[in-house]
This record gives sequence, C-alpha cells and structure tokens, in this order.
Amino acid sequence: MDRIRIVGGQQLRGTIPISGAKNAALPLLIASLLTEDRLTLKNVPNLADVNLLVRILRNHGVDLAVDGKRSSPPSHLGDTIHLTARDIVDTTAPYEMVSRMRASFWVLGPLIARMGQAKVSLPGGCAIGTRPVDLHLMGLKELGADIDIDSGYVVAKAPKGLRGAHIVFPKVSVGATHNVLLAAALAKGETVIENAAREPEIGDVAVCLTKMGAKVEGIGTSVLRIQGRDRLEGAIHTVLPDRIETGTFAMAVAATGGDVMLEGAHYHDLKTALDVLAETGASVEATATGVRVSRNGGGIEPISVETQPFPGFPTDLQAQLMALLTRASGTSVIRETIFENRFMHVQELARLGADIQLHGDTATIKGVKTLKGAPVMATDLRASVSLVIAGLAGEGETVINRVYHLDRGFEQLERKLGACGAEIERLSSG
Ligand code: EPZ
Repeated sequence: MDRIRIVGGQQLRGTIPISGAKNAALPLLIASLLTEDRLTLKNVPNLADVNLLVRILRNHGVDLAVDGKRSSPPSHLGDTIHLTARDIVDTTAPYEMVSRMRASFWVLGPLIARMGQAKVSLPGGCAIGTRPVDLHLMGLKELGADIDIDSGYVVAKAPKGLRGAHIVFPKVSVGATHNVLLAAALAKGETVIENAAREPEIGDVAVCLTKMGAKVEGIGTSVLRIQGRDRLEGAIHTVLPDRIETGTFAMAVAATGGDVMLEGAHYHDLKTALDVLAETGASVEATATGVRVSRNGGGIEPISVETQPFPGFPTDLQAQLMALLTRASGTSVIRETIFENRFMHVQELARLGADIQLHGDTATIKGVKTLKGAPVMATDLRASVSLVIAGLAGEGETVINRVYHLDRGFEQLERKLGACGAEIERLSSG
C-alpha cells in the first residue's frame, strides 16, 4: 500500500487548479442510465471513486469513451467522458461493487425509472456512521416502486413505470435527493421534493437533467419541482468545480501560512466555510478566476462551528478545519451533526501532538504551539486529508499510511501541493 511522506514547515505559495467535483461527477455519471442517447460529461476528475463507478455502469451495459490525454501541468479541466446506455443489459448492482462505494446505490432510482426493475445491494455502514437508506426507499416507493429487501439486496419493481408524487423528506439527505431526482426525471408527471438537499452538486445534476429534457424548478432551494419525461435525450454537461477540494486547500494555506490562488473555484458554493476560515484570521478573496486565500504572519483564532447541510458548514470539511484549529491561539469547539462517527481523525491528530477532547458529537480543540510529525493512519477520505494538512503545518516528518482513501477523492494531491512549495511525496509500495 502506498504511503505519503510529508516534511512540514513550508508555507504554501502559488496556484492550485481545482478539479471537477467528485460528488457531482458521480450522480452525473449515473444519469447516463436514464437515456439511450449519448451523455457527454466534461471536467470529470480522475479519481478512484469515479473509476469504480465507471466499472459498475459498464456492468449495467453503459458504453464509455474517454477523450485523449489531458494537458500537463494539471489544468482544472478534467476528462471528457462520453457515456451511452443504449441497452441496459443487467439491472443488478452486486454487493462486491456497491459495498465499496456508497454513491453507487444511487443507480437504484434511474434503473427502476428506465427498466421498471432493479436489484441493488444495500450499501451497509461505513467508517463515518451507520448511513441508512430509508429515505431513498421512502422516496422511490412514493414514486410507485414496490420495494422488498431480500438477502441484503433492495429488490424494486415498477412494471408500469414510475409516476410523479409529492415527497416530503423528514430529514435532509443528499443521496436520497439525488436518487429521487434522477428517478423523477423519467417518471410520469410532476414530482415535488420538499426538504430536498440544496448542495450545489444537486443543482448541477438538476441542470444536466434539464438539458436532457426534464424540467426542474427550484434549483438551489429546498423544494424541487420536476416534470418527468417518457424519454430523456443526450446532453453535454461540464461538472462544476469541487468545493470540498477548494475548502481543503484553503484550510491547508490557513494552516501553513502563505498565499495561494485556487483557480476555477466557485466562492459562492463555499461561502459559509470561507467565512469561517476568515474568522480564524485567514484572508479570503473571490477573484475573477477563483478564490485567493492567504495568511501572512497573523495567528490562528479559535472558533466554534457546527456542521450542517448546505448552506451550512459542510461535514466534508470538518476534519480539515479541525486540523487547522489544532494550532489556534485558544480553545475551539466543533459539533458534528451529520454523521455520528466522523471523528476518526481525532486520535491520529493526537499522534502529532494535538489536544482534542471528544464528548458525543462535540470536539473541543485546545490549540497547541506546534505539531510534531509522526506516522499516522488514514481512515476515510476527509480524515486522511486532515492528516496531510496537520503534517504540512507541523514540524518534521509525517508518514500517512493507507492513502488509498485519499485517492478516492483528491486528484493529484501531492503534485498540486508540491507545486506550491510543500515537501510531499508518495512512497510507492512497489
Ligand atoms: C453525501 O453522502 C456525500 N457523498 C458525502 O460526502 C457527504 O458527507 C454527505 O452527503 C453529507 O453532505 C456523495 O455526495 C457521494 P446524506 P450521503 O444522505 O448522500 C442520514 C465525501 O467525503 N440518512 O446527506 O450518503 C445519514 O445517516 C462523502 O465525499 C438517513 O437517515 O449523505 C446522515 O446522518 C462522505 N437515511 C444524514 O442523513 C437515509 O436514507 C445525511 O446523509 C439517508 C441518509
């Protein structure tokens, strides 16, 4: 297994191109199941999760072509992928695949909508929490699917197709919103989703579905109104920039000090987190080409934050913010309200000398003067990158084990940070 070696203490200075958003690319790739025509997606990041989903889609019968090589040094324009699901040859998504990536469960809605049936493995729990799928199933049942659970599989049938419905989610869920939105685009009549997730990635999918012929109103709000179509068409769509990657590099700059232009980033998709960063003492500026973040000289101010669905502070940046606050000039408090077990980074940050107390869903972080490099273990995607930030801001050598977690969601991480002066390298297992 590869490891990442970091020698901390360098400030970050330069430009980092922001890749296409993983969490938009995944549902957009899944949207290809909804049409027999060609869906072309531009700016798709080259990530382990994307590659795994592509394998799952191929298994359903999606033909796929990727345009030629990308420019080097990395630009923020990712791959262009053409997907054609002319015939869906298999409506089963097997355990071996779905268990490796939760978002692959989102093929359920599109498969039922297009084929009238689907058998998709339950995704199961994962490192960050139990993560049930009751809301997905509730929404799809309201659209008319008959759903049974059999031997760990969701077995769904809608022989006469899905029909529009009024769905009120009792809780905000990104995945359930994606699943129902995708299905509703190919359901008969109008679907209203109340208490829909408002994440920009949902908006990106809704825009793409509109290009494919569905009508989606209320994009960016918590009430989505979808006019489904009997048949959707092909489209060309560009994946929006990754706001979590943007926020991660912004926190890294705030942690190490320096001045970095995050090229291609969308300021407004990340405003709450960037405001929080500014409260810690960093300078944040929206420019014509992206977001510029700097911290020159000043210290890191302690703060109190809780994670919330969009537009609140994202749970996907909680670990990175914690890494930054380990060196604040006082005591900070972070409350995690989305996932009950998303504190796996705490014990690893402690190896570097961080002083963090956990009580239920709340972490109290007492700033320390310095972190000191140590061997640490990556546990999930965002936890891993928090260790990278801590390592960059600490003194001496940090070696991060199990970096395959990082490869699931960060494209060319070492290269992007290395180009800004970080001492970071991948130690290949050979
Ligand atoms: C998406 O996961 C993201 N994944 C996650 O990013 C992100 O952390 C999460 O949304 C929250 O923003 C992708 O976009 C691929 P949810 P998802 O359904 O859809 C509960 C990353 O690091 N819930 O919004 O699985 C659930 O347990 C990943 O990139 C139910 O109770 O999250 C959680 O407490 C990790 N029943 C809350 O809702 C359900 O049926 C929010 O989960 C579904 C969810």
